[in-house]
Amino acid sequence: MTKLSVRHLLGIKNLNENDIQTILDTATEFKDVINRPIKKVPSLRDITIANVFFENSTRTRLSFELAEKRLSADVVNFSASGSSVKKGETLLDTVNNILAMKVDMIVMRHSSPGAPHYLSTRIPANVVNAGDGTHEHPTQALLDAFSMREKLGDLQGKKIAIIGDITHSRVALSNIFCLQKLGAEVMVCGPSTLIPKHLGELGVKIGHNVKQALEWCDVANVLRIQLERQQIKYFPSLREYSLYFGINKQMLDDLNKEIVLMHPGPINRGVELSSDAADSRHSIILNQVENGVAVRMAVLYLLAQQ
Ligand code: CP
Repeated sequence: MTKLSVRHLLGIKNLNENDIQTILDTATEFKDVINRPIKKVPSLRDITIANVFFENSTRTRLSFELAEKRLSADVVNFSASGSSVKKGETLLDTVNNILAMKVDMIVMRHSSPGAPHYLSTRIPANVVNAGDGTHEHPTQALLDAFSMREKLGDLQGKKIAIIGDITHSRVALSNIFCLQKLGAEVMVCGPSTLIPKHLGELGVKIGHNVKQALEWCDVANVLRIQLERQQIKYFPSLREYSLYFGINKQMLDDLNKEIVLMHPGPINRGVELSSDAADSRHSIILNQVENGVAVRMAVLYLLAQQ
C-alpha cells in the first residue's frame, strides 16, 4: 500500500503530488463503501479520534464524525463552548487532557492560523487540520479536487476560478496549493480589497471581473463573504457586492460552454450566489458534501497507517 509522506495533515502545502493522488484514489474506494447498503468497514476499529472544535462548523465536523464512524473508530467530540477553555485552560493543556484518555488522533478546528502546527510538535498523536483561521483547510481542498476530478477527469491543464473573499478564506489557499500540484491553472477573482497583494507570487492569475472569470474557467469555486472575519469595510454594501461579484443562473446559462459551479458552504444566498445558481444543474455543491466523507475517510485511514 502507498503511504503518505507526512504524519499529520496540517496543510496542502506540506503534501506532495503523490500524497494528493493517493488520498484521492483511496477516497474513490471509500466512496464505493459509503454507497453500499452496509456503509461501514473495520479499518480503524482500534483507534480513538477526538474532534476538537474551537470554532463553529456544520459540514466539516459532521463529515469527520461520519467518516470516523464509517471506519469503525471510537469518536469523542469536544466544543470549546461549554468546556473548561472558558475557565482559562490553554490549548495544549486541553488537548493533553483529552489525550490522557487514550485518544490516538486529534482533528482540530481553531481560529488561530498555525494552531494545529503548534500542537503537532508537542503531542504524540496524529493531528488533522480541520481549518485554522484564514490559513488552510486541507480536507476541503482535497474534497474539492476529488469532486472536480469526478466531474472533469484529470485536472492537468483545467482552469479553475476561485471567486469571492480570498483574503479571509482558508479554502482559497488550500485550493491554490492543491490544484497547482495537480497541474491545474488557477485564477482568483474578487474586489481588489479582498485579494491579498502577495497572491500573484503564487503563480495564480488575478481578476476583478466575474463575467470574464466565468468565460475563462472550467470550474467556478465561489467563496463566502466572511463578514465575521472582517474588522473593517472592504466594500460599500452587500447589495453592491452582489451586483458586481454575485453569480446568478442567467450568467451561467449564457456561457457558450458547460461550467461546474462549486461552493464550500455555508452559502450566503443572494450575496455571492443567487439561489437559482446554487440549485442549478451547473452546481455540484451537495456532491462536494457527499465526497467530503469519503475524502476524510481516506485521510484518517492513511494517517493511521503511519
Ligand atoms: N466548508 C466548511 O468548512 O463548512 P463548515 O464551516 O460548516 O464546516
